[in-house]
Amino acid sequence: MTSYKELGLVNTREMFAKAVAGGYAIPAFNFNTLEQMQAIVQAAVETKSPVIMQVSKGARNYANGTILRYMAQGAVEYAKELGCANPQIVLHLDHGDSFELCKDCIDNGFSSVMIDGSALPYEENIALTKKVVEYAHAHDVTVEAELGVLAGVEDEVASEVSHYTKPEEVEDFSKRSGCDSLAISIGTSHGAYKFTPEQCTRDPKTGKLVPPPLAFDILHEIEKRLPGFPIVLHGSSSVPQDEVDTINAHGGKLPDAVGIPEEQLREASKSAVCKINIDSDSRLAMTAAIRKHFDEYPSHFDPRQYLKPARENMKKMYIHKIVEVLGSNDKL
Ligand code: G3H
Ligand code: 13P
Ligand code: ZN
Repeated sequence: MTSYKELGLVNTREMFAKAVAGGYAIPAFNFNTLEQMQAIVQAAVETKSPVIMQVSKGARNYANGTILRYMAQGAVEYAKELGCANPQIVLHLDHGDSFELCKDCIDNGFSSVMIDGSALPYEENIALTKKVVEYAHAHDVTVEAELGVLAGVEDEVASEVSHYTKPEEVEDFSKRSGCDSLAISIGTSHGAYKFTPEQCTRDPKTGKLVPPPLAFDILHEIEKRLPGFPIVLHGSSSVPQDEVDTINAHGGKLPDAVGIPEEQLREASKSAVCKINIDSDSRLAMTAAIRKHFDEYPSHFDPRQYLKPARENMKKMYIHKIVEVLGSNDKL
């Protein structure tokens, strides 16, 4: 058993309370690689932001859970080395799909876990979440649950359509499950193709797709029913068009990739939404920089030559999100 406290990590309780009260959101960045971890820590330290580093089941399979745990410990020490006296870093399991996986993470240094029972019938979702909460709280680990289903791919669970969270269920769900935060479905979705062209309109000037707006009425109704309760938005990458254009200009093929407009995420951050999940934008920033580098320097074959600009591009993106969208800068 390794407690996250031994690793210098924190759970989400205090940072979420401050974020809800302060009208900003904590960035939750997925990571699988050393360069992503370095870029996340550099961005968080430079902007004085708390940060959630999250690991999916797929990331654990790719990079190995033990390695990722020590990388999170390394992130804390690296933040201190960069001059941050009191880093506020959470190691979070993203889309945990079983009690056993959540328990394994809690026993191995995670400070927060998500149990995603959103595809289960309502009562089963409550029962599974409650079981995870009981174990997690005994170890002072916080738990994110999900109610409502996002369109797109939730790890291995594919959902063609989005089922918005039903506001009339949130009080009963949070009370009976005991979860510390709740991921809701208001029209975001995972990946770089969040909406089909048919669901969007086209900007007549640029020809770019304009996605349908998020269901803020549902968010506000949820906030009314659960005052001050921490709400989470998954699938919140903006899929920056300049990165998509760079990828496409250098041999990539991402037609009609579209994300959530940043103005809407800015608005959500000011509400009870206190955690915003971003993974795809990091993938796009990394891929754009690498494709461009390969095109410009065909003779390069040392990974450091192309991973360095990739890391810099991700760092720029993380800083932009923290300062210009979520507003979590200057909070340490
Ligand atoms: O919500 C899913 C995250 O983007 C993680 O994706 O399962 O491909 O690591 P992954
Ligand atoms: P994006 O695919 O929009 O980055 O969402 C990531 C996410 O929700 C991780 O849980
Ligand atoms: Zn997600």
